[in-house]
Amino acid sequence: MAQVTTLTEAQALDAADPLRPWRERFHLPEGLIYLDGNSLGALPKAVVARQNEAVAREWGESLIRGWNAHDWIGAPQRVGAKIAPLIGAKPHEVIVCDSTSVNLFKLILAAAKLSERPVILSEAGNFRTDLYVAEGAAELLGRRLEAVAREALEARIGDDTNLLLLTHVHYKSGARFDMAALTARAREAGARTLWDLSHSTGAAPLALNRDGVELAVGCGYKYLNGGPGAPAFLYVEEALQELLTPMLRGWMGHAAPFAFDDEYRPAPGLDRFLVGTPPVLGLAALETALDAFDGVTMDQLWAKSVALFDLFQRLVAAHCPELACVTPAEPEQRGSHISFAHPHAFEICQALIAAEVIGDFRAPDVLRFGLTPLYLGFEDIWRAVDRLREIMASERWRDPKFAVRGKVT
Ligand SMILES: Cc1ncc(COP(=O)(O)O)c(C=O)c1O
Repeated sequence: MAQVTTLTEAQALDAADPLRPWRERFHLPEGLIYLDGNSLGALPKAVVARQNEAVAREWGESLIRGWNAHDWIGAPQRVGAKIAPLIGAKPHEVIVCDSTSVNLFKLILAAAKLSERPVILSEAGNFRTDLYVAEGAAELLGRRLEAVAREALEARIGDDTNLLLLTHVHYKSGARFDMAALTARAREAGARTLWDLSHSTGAAPLALNRDGVELAVGCGYKYLNGGPGAPAFLYVEEALQELLTPMLRGWMGHAAPFAFDDEYRPAPGLDRFLVGTPPVLGLAALETALDAFDGVTMDQLWAKSVALFDLFQRLVAAHCPELACVTPAEPEQRGSHISFAHPHAFEICQALIAAEVIGDFRAPDVLRFGLTPLYLGFEDIWRAVDRLREIMASERWRDPKFAVRGKVT
């Protein structure tokens, strides 16, 4: 087995880490090791002051005038343009609005309507919202959803495929699809592809324009650190934008929202996918949170993620052999979290949380740890696995209190 790093060596890795100063941009509770940034990102310190300003000065003092005075109305496009470089898109190809689930619904309906082909193809075991939403959208359009095993997907793409709907990095295993290859394969077969980037954006390398991606959605509260329930984003490649007509038609997506025309006319470009009034405070938080990426490249972030993963995997293999890593070892085949299967994953996760290491559990048996390269260090990983080792060795997780399940698991 490769060499296992000691605490001193982990500290030396932190001292040599060019991204170490970025950690200072985040509020990280004293003594806590936070390995759940793939579910809810940590709080960027600048967001606190910005939220105060947005509430007290902009809302409090400007009131309704804020829509123009502070350009609240331009926030969906402005924040979208800030996300664009992180995913390899043009600024006007990304807009921030609604939730990932709602954006999926909007794009599936608009895109699948363009073709008579009957099948929306996805992966069995995809994140449930993607499948539920696709099933509803398919029902409305008189198409059908087919969810097939990952290994069978590529071969299943055919001349009945309307839309290929895939999550780039799997929420549970962390396995990453080859975005360029599958998009090209679908295109060859005459199908469009819609990617869910929730577990890639802000951590894994993405080059949507280079890879020929037509449609995508993604989450604002995971690696982008926009806060609980932050608005999501949607992406439509330039060439496709004017071809799509939204089925969910709100006044904010009208060509002239304040003309109050009875007749619907879609706004130019991506603006047509806006529906209702933008969530101004959520947008303000996400906009400021994105500043935490200033000065760092996605390549640097990914290199750090790979190094964090490598250390985590080596330490767990050496000290907790009963935990089976289910995340692919090859960097190009995975995202930025690491998952382990164990029949008592839930209890182990609770025991770890009691020991101030926050990871999460995904049913039925997966223990998942987010490796957020902007603010995690190598010492965090070392200490987290050390506490995990102690919990496994002492079997402390068997305490019945760790089996109690809350509403959110
Ligand atoms: C792959 C994926 N898609 C979508 C979502 C959820 O989106 P929403 O913000 O609509 O709850 C998640 C949430 O964890 C996710 O992991």
